[in-house]
Amino acid sequence: ASQSEEHDLVIIGGGVAGYVAAIKAGQEGLKTACIEKRGTLGGTCLNVGCIPSKSLLNNSHLYHQILHDTKKRGIEVGDVKLNLQQMLKAKDTSVEGLTKGVEFLLKKNGVDYVKGTGSFVNENEVKVNLVDGGERTLRGKNIIIATGSESTPFPGLEVDEERIITSTGALSLKEVPKKMVVIGGGIIGLEMASVWSRLGSEVTVVEFLGQIGGPGMDSEISKAAQKILAKQGIKFLTNTKVTKGDTSGSTISISTEAAKGGKEQTLDADVVLVAIGRRPYTDGLGLENIGIEADEKGRLVIDQEYRTKLPHIRVIGDVTFGPMLAHKAEEEAVAAIEYITKGHGHVNYAAIPSVMYTHPEVAWVGQSEEELKKAGVKYNKGTFPFSANSRAKTNLETEGLVKFLSDAETDRILGVHILGPNAGEMIAEATLAVEYGASSEDVARTCHAHPTLAEAFKEAAMATYSKAIHF
Ligand code: FAD
Ligand code: NAI
Repeated sequence: ASQSEEHDLVIIGGGVAGYVAAIKAGQEGLKTACIEKRGTLGGTCLNVGCIPSKSLLNNSHLYHQILHDTKKRGIEVGDVKLNLQQMLKAKDTSVEGLTKGVEFLLKKNGVDYVKGTGSFVNENEVKVNLVDGGERTLRGKNIIIATGSESTPFPGLEVDEERIITSTGALSLKEVPKKMVVIGGGIIGLEMASVWSRLGSEVTVVEFLGQIGGPGMDSEISKAAQKILAKQGIKFLTNTKVTKGDTSGSTISISTEAAKGGKEQTLDADVVLVAIGRRPYTDGLGLENIGIEADEKGRLVIDQEYRTKLPHIRVIGDVTFGPMLAHKAEEEAVAAIEYITKGHGHVNYAAIPSVMYTHPEVAWVGQSEEELKKAGVKYNKGTFPFSANSRAKTNLETEGLVKFLSDAETDRILGVHILGPNAGEMIAEATLAVEYGASSEDVARTCHAHPTLAEAFKEAAMATYSKAIHF
């Protein structure tokens, strides 16, 4: 056995949660080790999540736009061809640059990056089976678990990442499938359906619920988004559940039935994407050796300072409570280190934005109309369509709207929902407003540059307590 090496902080997992915690801890002068088994840093997000998906979304959108949306703009193009291999290579180049960048940042901040799989030996020691063979045992005064999440499997459909795929396979398909079935119309389902449909696949999304977009998306926005995506060629079967799949034939056969029972249907596909959610990942972590608890969904149980019942062991990111989002993991990482070094930290869970990077994008922060109704909160609503916004008009991209929800009595902003071009950038302003407890009038009386899409944002705020000017 190896000798135990003493650290102020040992972090298990080098995803967004783990690597951000490592950098922050290095900056604060803690002697820190970060253990990652993947061989590269950045976790799901940089390697097989946020970053590669956005690369494919951006470039497939460009391809689709060149094919279908140039004539009316006065651009005549000739022979347009897809070079999928090159598109995948461009994605890999972005990923590689960013994961190497993270490695550089760890080094710059004096973090000991340990390539291997970490497993608890006891409350203070983590044994690492090194990627290159051999082992090390790290002793941590503090330990952070940041082991992330994995795709939830669909019973009976074994993932091979070629025919039955998760998002990971969907980011590397070697050819465009003729027919693709997507199980689950959440964010992963819709982003990946967009990519492959734009590249020429006939895509059908099967969603159990009556609306797409996954948890938290406002119904009015979800319905409008579904209409636009359907116009782009994606087929939707909502209120429908997949009951089983048969992979024995040359094409895969997927059986569905109406969610409330009844009507059955069979779909055939060359590739099936399973996108029914993600679950916390703790395999091989040796939790049984320290007796840390998980809830019924596998999320590690913590208090408000991210501490498990062993107070020197903290948990952040996808493996614990809250939305499984990279920016949420990043906020928790900084806060967890501040709790260790200063005794206080801060994450405002009421002001975490969500973005779906389809075209147009959907973005929101705060509560949906359904959530406010359910909670019995009285609210005012203001909307503004992009079809009345000058910049959207000049860009010939007028689909979508901005919707503000504010407290009926105080006008404090309770939720902002955007469907439209650049919604993901625009939501930052809404998040800042929510963070500072702004009213819709505060936003509406803030001068916005002309002509910008952000003016639609301002006018929706205006429409919440008064009237919009241009609609
Ligand atoms: P992870 O990123 O999963 O990192 C955990 C790391 O721990 C992994 O690298 C794993 O190898 C390592 N690990 C696990 N166990 C051990 C062990 N015992 N020893 C050593 N290492 C271990 N979020 C967004 O905010 N925006 C997006 O656009 C977005 N797009 C996404 C697209 C896809 C296709 C997917 C799947 C996810 C996307 N997400 C997005 C979610 C985002 O990727 C996660 O929320 C984020 O990666 C969570 O970070 P994490 O550090 O908690 O976990
Ligand atoms: P999700 O929870 O967003 O959506 C899963 C969908 O599948 C739900 O709408 C659910 O009703 C449906 N479903 C479940 N079982 C089904 C069945 N048997 N038949 C039909 N439909 C079924 O999960 P998803 O899309 O897998 O994404 C996981 C997480 O990854 C997201 O919640 C998000 O946190 C993160 N992510 C974030 C992105 C972003 O921020 N842009 C992009 C991709 C992922």
